[in-house]
Amino acid sequence: MAKTLVAYFSAGGVTKRTAEKLAEAAGADLFEIIPEVPYTAADLDWRDKSSRTTVEMQDKNSRPAFIKNELNPSEYDLIFLGYPVWWYTAPHIINSFLEAYDFSGKKIVLFATSGGSAFGKVTDDLKVSVPESTQIIEGALLNGNPSVEALKKFVSEF
Ligand SMILES: Cc1cc2nc3c(=O)[nH]c(=O)nc-3n(C[C@H](O)[C@H](O)[C@H](O)COP(=O)(O)O)c2cc1C
Repeated sequence: MAKTLVAYFSAGGVTKRTAEKLAEAAGADLFEIIPEVPYTAADLDWRDKSSRTTVEMQDKNSRPAFIKNELNPSEYDLIFLGYPVWWYTAPHIINSFLEAYDFSGKKIVLFATSGGSAFGKVTDDLKVSVPESTQIIEGALLNGNPSVEALKKFVSEF
């Protein structure tokens, strides 16, 4: 049977809630991308020019460390990858995740939550972190705490 993975990063719990429901909808395994150094409220202050996230997101090469729990992407036929939109793109810890495992030949469908902005230019920002053979597909913004039923519909598109 086809195996599906839902991997996600969530700083405030919004993406986490949706990722858990998405895993239920897809009958998928769940993998949380947990930062080695958790983000504090001060770190997440996007109004502060010197906050950790502002500094990280201004540096295209920043790769925040995460806890490298065991994960074997080759076990999965389909991977959903979710995150909160930060500065109109994906948090750089998503690049850290993509660079830490072998995703060659895999199909990765993105999902995100945001405060209102769209996906942005995220696909280009993430392609730098995977081999040519990895397909990165813009899935959907899953704002508004969608139901498992709605998420089943989303899953069935892939
Ligand atoms: C550092 C930072 C930057 C953000 N940048 C954006 C943005 O560019 N556009 C947007 O709509 N929301 C932005 N947000 C809001 C988050 O995307 C939104 O609250 C998201 O649902 C949080 O998910 P989480 O609880 O899983 O971390 C930002 C939040 C943070 C902390």
